[in-house]
Amino acid sequence: MEQRKDRRAVGVKVLPEGVEEYCERHTTALTELHERLLKETEEKTTTANFLVGEIEGAFLKMLVRMTQAKRILEVGMFTGYSALSFAEALPPDGSIITCEVDPHAIEIARRFFAQSPHRDKIQIREGRAADTLKTLQGPFDLCFIDADKPSYDDYYDRCLELARRGGLIVLDNMLRYGRVLNATEEDARIVNVLNDRIHNDPRVENVLLPFRDGIMLAYKL
Ligand SMILES: C[S@@+](CC[C@H](N)C(=O)[O-])C[C@H]1O[C@@H](n2cnc3c(N)ncnc32)[C@H](O)[C@@H]1O
Repeated sequence: MEQRKDRRAVGVKVLPEGVEEYCERHTTALTELHERLLKETEEKTTTANFLVGEIEGAFLKMLVRMTQAKRILEVGMFTGYSALSFAEALPPDGSIITCEVDPHAIEIARRFFAQSPHRDKIQIREGRAADTLKTLQGPFDLCFIDADKPSYDDYYDRCLELARRGGLIVLDNMLRYGRVLNATEEDARIVNVLNDRIHNDPRVENVLLPFRDGIMLAYKL
């Protein structure tokens, strides 16, 4: 529990103290495999704060169930926490392609996926996501973008091409913990410009959720 608090302390608290913990306690729990993956990510990497965490993981699962997605694309797998969440919510004939460049993260993810009954749904594409995205063919029902911010613009455009009409593009970290309001840092500036672009994009209907570090949902019209 202490470690969880530390992870969240990376960001600026928007909600009153204790509310996020309350929500966590009132949200369907992720699996024991997720717990172990979180623990190992904390022990073996310095960036466990990369993980979407329990509530967002449960939210992503819920999105899959609500949209009845069968084919998912993830940009930015890290040690596989969100990919595992997606895979658990997919139907037996569903699949997720997940892109990652870091071999150490991939090694951890592979070991954990191997322990999941949903392992056959997950395909890892090692290498730069921009290269992988060029090789993929749509349509995807849901695309999740959670990787290097300078490439978000390109990922968004490519995912929009690959998504089916009625498909969903989900972009994580779209508030930069509030720094978009005064976007002096490069990452915040990039995200700020992209939020404007998505909001004014006639190809999508969108909602920017002020939840965790900001989740943008863009529905392809
Ligand atoms: C925020 S983490 C992803 C967390 C993951 N979605 C989760 O919640 O479990 C971002 C990941 O993107 C990866 N990444 C960064 N640049 C990349 C690139 N150009 N191509 C592929 N992956 C990249 C990083 O190595 C990192 O593991």
